Amino acid sequence: MEKILEELKNELKEVKNVQILNELKARYLGKKGSISALSSKIKDMTVEEKKNFGVTLNRIKNEATNLIDEKRKKIEEEILNQKLQNESVDITLPSIKVPVGAPNTLEKIIEEIEELLMSMGYDVVDGPEIEEDRYNFELLNIPKGHPARDAQDTFYLKDEEILLRSQTSPVQIRTMLKGKGKEPIRMICPGKTYRRDNDDATHSHQFMQIEGLLVDRKVSLSDLKGTFDVIAKKLFGEDTETRFRPSYYQFTEPSVEMDVSCHHCKGKGCAICKNTGWITVSGAGMVHPNVLRNCGYDPKEWQGFAFGFGAERLAMVKYNIDDLRVFYTNNINEMRTFDRKEAE
Ligand code: DAH
Repeated sequence: MEKILEELKNELKEVKNVQILNELKARYLGKKGSISALSSKIKDMTVEEKKNFGVTLNRIKNEATNLIDEKRKKIEEEILNQKLQNESVDITLPSIKVPVGAPNTLEKIIEEIEELLMSMGYDVVDGPEIEEDRYNFELLNIPKGHPARDAQDTFYLKDEEILLRSQTSPVQIRTMLKGKGKEPIRMICPGKTYRRDNDDATHSHQFMQIEGLLVDRKVSLSDLKGTFDVIAKKLFGEDTETRFRPSYYQFTEPSVEMDVSCHHCKGKGCAICKNTGWITVSGAGMVHPNVLRNCGYDPKEWQGFAFGFGAERLAMVKYNIDDLRVFYTNNINEMRTFDRKEAE
């Protein structure tokens, strides 16, 4: 029995993994294993012999079991140590700088306005870029042949009926037609618009507008002024002042241009505000009674205000950019500059 135990010890020295250990255990302690096989000898022994033999056999069995268990622990420990070593991190190594893209400046301005107006109960809606003439013009009180159409040199796609929208204002019409019975209507629509302009520092054949519309009972121009004031302060800083100037749009009456005090010179006058102290950032007005009627609203009962920001214009004013083409060239360095300007 001692010899078997000795053999086991020797064999254990060579064992390197759990699988071989299990095989070894089976060979010694399994049902047909060499230690278990010793029990069969008992039947030919005297009572005294049986006693001694039994005690020794149990001791050998226990010892063998312990030896194998110990070995198993050791192997598992080794595996764990190996794993820990392989996965160890050298925190003294210099780190690799992961270059991070910068968000597009227009996108950031749009998101800022969206967030603000959503907190005031506005929905952000979408409209088609390929639009019908009646939404883009006619229902907005701009009939065929009207000179106001000339200001928006439009890309027509089919028979003067289907076009690339020249403004986001058609989304006002779509929203009012859909919103009947669900007043108040509060929506903004940021989106691409198209005009047959030659691209230069201040023109682009494709640009972005942010349309806004509110329709309810008892809406007045002062509601528009208040809303614009909140937007202006959020975009250009708390000390920003706002003013309206009379203007003309077919789909609003009265119509205004909305100005912010120049945040670069604080209204004193500089090159950016052309020494006026003010910068125009949006057209706006009270929704024209004809437009309300076109969408099924009685102007005696319902009023509304609307505004249309040019997203590029806002970004250019905010970051003092003099060429709008930078928004479409996706030059990350250029965009990082705007991030830095904002941080200042
Ligand atoms: N759609 C106008 C444009 O492209 C901008 C505008 C002016 C939108 C007044 C409005 C508004 O909603 O009320 O020039």
